Amino acid sequence: MDTFQYLTEIFSLVAEEPPGSRVVKEVLTSRPWLKKAFWSLFILLILVPVSLKILPQLVQHFVYAHRIRVPFFVDLSRPADLSLNHTINMYLTSEEGISLGVWHTVPASQWEEAQGKDLAWYQKALDSGSPVFIYLHGNTGTRAAPHRVGVAKVLSALGYHVLVPDYRGFGDSTGEPTEAGFTTDVLFLYKWVKARSGNSLVIIWGHSLGTGVSTNTAVKLIEQGEVFDGVILEGAFNSARQKLNIHPFIWYYWTYPGIGYVFREPWAENKVVFPTEANLKKMKSPILFLHSEDDYIAPLHFVQQMRDVAVKAQNAERVKDPRLPSIIKEFVMSL
Ligand SMILES: *[C@@H]1O[C@H](CO)[C@@H](O)[C@H](O)[C@H]1NC(C)=O
Repeated sequence: MDTFQYLTEIFSLVAEEPPGSRVVKEVLTSRPWLKKAFWSLFILLILVPVSLKILPQLVQHFVYAHRIRVPFFVDLSRPADLSLNHTINMYLTSEEGISLGVWHTVPASQWEEAQGKDLAWYQKALDSGSPVFIYLHGNTGTRAAPHRVGVAKVLSALGYHVLVPDYRGFGDSTGEPTEAGFTTDVLFLYKWVKARSGNSLVIIWGHSLGTGVSTNTAVKLIEQGEVFDGVILEGAFNSARQKLNIHPFIWYYWTYPGIGYVFREPWAENKVVFPTEANLKKMKSPILFLHSEDDYIAPLHFVQQMRDVAVKAQNAERVKDPRLPSIIKEFVMSL
């Protein structure tokens, strides 16, 4: 049914006062909470899907939540405010009109030397032989989110370089978020790093949404005849087999499956695909799967399924699945 037709029908039903509506009205007046419940239901069941249908951009916002710039009062150009005192903020142009905000943190052992240094010094430091991590964060928020800063600190303390970009549309990066756009951004950043890091290992660490971006980029790179030195997938999800909990209205489609015919699942229309499982079958990089057992976005059994896919495509030697992040150092040493 046409959306507008649907809307008109709903509104005419409301306006016409069908038989019995007076009784309903009286009941609602005598029980104010019922009225509230009725309106909540109306908004949830009718207005939300109708708005999603009419304004496809809204879907993008719900899926990526990129406009929620948490933490709110951080100046992304000043990572030192978050005690990242050996980090520089920079902007890279991944394609015409797209400027990406990126933080580069050098190994913690160099923190004193790094004080007051400019972009040129940081770029040169990349060629120190230390492994370089590119950390691809999940949806919602910016590169300044506390757990993301935490990952940068841990990796830096282990003696590694860390580059943390905000994808297009996130943080202070320009543009609108799209799956293909993320791949372009990450591919660009990877090549930028490779051009400056000599023979150092370059490892991609994706978290949640970032795991989808990681495997998409890995496959794109393989098409160009290159392979990532190592890939860490933390909380990987597979949109083909798994209902993504990143969508706040997903329960709606589960609870009312029939409605899917009227309002198609938003990610189907917006081509939010992230075919992780298919990507894993093509990937040739050593892969480390990290996950927490209480992750509701990426339940453990899905991660295990994907690990099995990757092991089948490569072998158990190159696909690891530890329970503890302390294994990261061993992983890097084994590359
Ligand atoms: C700067 O960062 C390093 C590495 O995290 C830390 O050891 C050091 O104490 C920090 N220095 C200051 C002045 O905050």
